[in-house]
Amino acid sequence: LIKAIKLHDSVDSTQNIAHRLAEDDALEGTLVIAEQQTSGRGRMGRKWISPTGKGVWMSLVLRPKLPLQVASQLTLLTAVALCRALRTVAAPLEIGIKWPNDLLINGKKISGILLESTAEEERLKYVIAGIGISVNLEESDYPQELRDIATSLRLELGRPLDRAEVIASFIREFEQLYTAYQKDGFGFIRSLWEALSVSLHKPMQLKTANGMQIGTPIGLDESGALLATFENGATIPIFSAETLPAP
Ligand code: BTN
Repeated sequence: LIKAIKLHDSVDSTQNIAHRLAEDDALEGTLVIAEQQTSGRGRMGRKWISPTGKGVWMSLVLRPKLPLQVASQLTLLTAVALCRALRTVAAPLEIGIKWPNDLLINGKKISGILLESTAEEERLKYVIAGIGISVNLEESDYPQELRDIATSLRLELGRPLDRAEVIASFIREFEQLYTAYQKDGFGFIRSLWEALSVSLHKPMQLKTANGMQIGTPIGLDESGALLATFENGATIPIFSAETLPAP
């Protein structure tokens, strides 16, 4: 799958570079990696801290032949690939997936995924899968307000990791899952995701059509939506939301 790796010292965001390349017809499998990002971005318009040489900041150009509605399956696939990769290089850390796509250790975030897609006539034109992994960040790299909710593999393991190994491990897992997904569909990704998830069977606040409600996620449906049960007994698919722990 990986056709070209574009290495940069400092960029605003690897997402921007990858979008530009994709617009210029870059092949599926073009991977942009930077040592530092000056405007790394996360979901919901949040800032993503990306200090020099401390993490893996990368964006992958994908051109899946899929209808627009199933783009979220790619997010879940990416989370599974990343979780498996990090469990391998950072064993014995117990890394889990918080729906839809954050990776956590002991409730603290170590990695985030940002999928940005562009469409043409209801088909995906291309997708940029952005991946941020806090590999070797130290406590002083985090602003005070993030110290209780974010961590790095180094802080959890007590030793630094080789970032090239982390990237290689991700590429191996992603290639395997993406190839199998295109051949066999979403079913096995769904089972892998459910097994690695730390979001199931615990009540949490979920954004539904009726506003924020406390529900208990029980799994994924075949499209990739989160199935949650609510106090009135209804089970509803949730497509996108901010989740918060139940008060
Ligand atoms: C999130 O958890 O909100 C998603 C974070 C995604 C961060 C990565 S780092 C590489 C790529 N470039 C960006 O600007 N963002 C993504």
